Amino acid sequence: MTYFLGIDLGTSAVKCLLVDEAGTVRTSHSVEYPLLQPQPGWAEQHPEDWWNGTADCIRALLAKAGVSGEEVAGVGLSGQMHGSVFLDADLDVVRPALLWCDQRTAAECDWIERTIGKEALGRLTGNRALTGFTAPKVVWLRNHEPVHYKRTSHLMLPKDYVRLRLTGAFGMDLADASGTLLLDVAGRRWSQEVLERLDIPAEWLPPLYESNAVAGQVLPEAASRTGLAAGTPVVAGGGDQACGAVGVGVVSGGIASVALGTSGVVFVHDDAYEADPECRLHSFCHGVPGKWHRMGVMLAAGGSFQWWKNHFAYEELQQAAAEGRDVYEVLTALAQNAPLGSEGLLFLPYLTGERTPHPDPKARGGFIGLNLRHTKAHLTRAVLEGITFGLRDSLELVKQSGIEIRELRVNGGGARSVFWRQMIADIFGYPVVTVNSTDGPAYGAAVMAASGVLQKDIPSLCEQWIRVVDRVEPNPANQARYEAYYDVYRSLYGTLRDTFHRLHELV
Ligand code: XUL
Repeated sequence: MTYFLGIDLGTSAVKCLLVDEAGTVRTSHSVEYPLLQPQPGWAEQHPEDWWNGTADCIRALLAKAGVSGEEVAGVGLSGQMHGSVFLDADLDVVRPALLWCDQRTAAECDWIERTIGKEALGRLTGNRALTGFTAPKVVWLRNHEPVHYKRTSHLMLPKDYVRLRLTGAFGMDLADASGTLLLDVAGRRWSQEVLERLDIPAEWLPPLYESNAVAGQVLPEAASRTGLAAGTPVVAGGGDQACGAVGVGVVSGGIASVALGTSGVVFVHDDAYEADPECRLHSFCHGVPGKWHRMGVMLAAGGSFQWWKNHFAYEELQQAAAEGRDVYEVLTALAQNAPLGSEGLLFLPYLTGERTPHPDPKARGGFIGLNLRHTKAHLTRAVLEGITFGLRDSLELVKQSGIEIRELRVNGGGARSVFWRQMIADIFGYPVVTVNSTDGPAYGAAVMAASGVLQKDIPSLCEQWIRVVDRVEPNPANQARYEAYYDVYRSLYGTLRDTFHRLHELV
């Protein structure tokens, strides 16, 4: 039998899966690693943890599946985007990587937009300088850790470091490179102009590839560490959003994907490059060669629900353990005891600042409208509704750009709940479908590997492998009631912005 290995290097864990030639997932496995938060608003990880986690995960996956390394015909990599891996000339890691959700670079973003000009930066890269992106992290290193900056010879993204360890080859796919702010997204090449204006050495950057291009072969030492066969081709892969979209078949117009991971993303395919003049949505290269996409990213979607579970769901954690259920399922059932709109309670999901549509690292979360009748069920429902309203903000920007949508494909952990899917359909006003592939970015990475090795284009493989398995229609009565709540929700950030900033100054 022949298999393709998809790897998704996430923020809390790496997930690996084996997909056969018919697109069926044979086995999956995941290994966790720590997230470091050395200061409020900072988020870092050790690249060595990524490599060890991935190598252990591949070895365990092959053992679990009873599959030999020789049966794996190709490997695809997906991963958390934007993180900065700094390596010296000997390929040693200079310092822990700054991650996509790290918020320390507000001053560097201002400097970049002043130096290049906001309008010129949008023209050159299709995007604004946002705290999560990679270029501001490089400028931060130069400003705050000059010794580390001087030692640096190579800059890459998280999954590309894993590929370097697996194959010895430098490379980055265009979809992930779009999130560095150093790419000419329209021209699909590094932007010499941005590099020069920011004084970032072009020689630090790896060669660029389309997502299904073979970008290296497994080294003998990596083969003995992982159980893969030496020489196995490894394709460039993509950032987790491009891979997640490919993984649910968003490879043509008319369908938007809604990814409910730690972050929350509304993603649409573009046949030609398009960017909003104000860059309110990100305009990136897609994982489909020669195509692009736009997306809005909220920073704490599943992350808000996870925070709620971690700190306020002691009883539900006990109940879940006693009944052998998933704690999120228990919490979602609790939320259903509260009525639509949580009896006038709104939750703001800006727990780690926000990106789309409010690029503001100082934005903060909150419950608005509490009264004595509210119970934990109301608060839990308000969390789910607040996350969904936050995502609706991105959908509104998509609609304002004139992009036509027929249906939404939900993926990520949140997609498992029928209750949440119905809420998305009601709040967004579109049918919500789920597909047979529920493994998100790792599945998309496997599609990319199969595309590169079998020489079949990505949309044809998606057509062959991915099919709709469930469809939820919006309920018109609920839609109208949610519309009124959304109207209040969307006014809150503007009303509270100064309060958030003053609170930030106090901490
Ligand atoms: C996308 C983004 C997040 C991370 C999460 O721009 O920042 O989705 O990739 O892994």
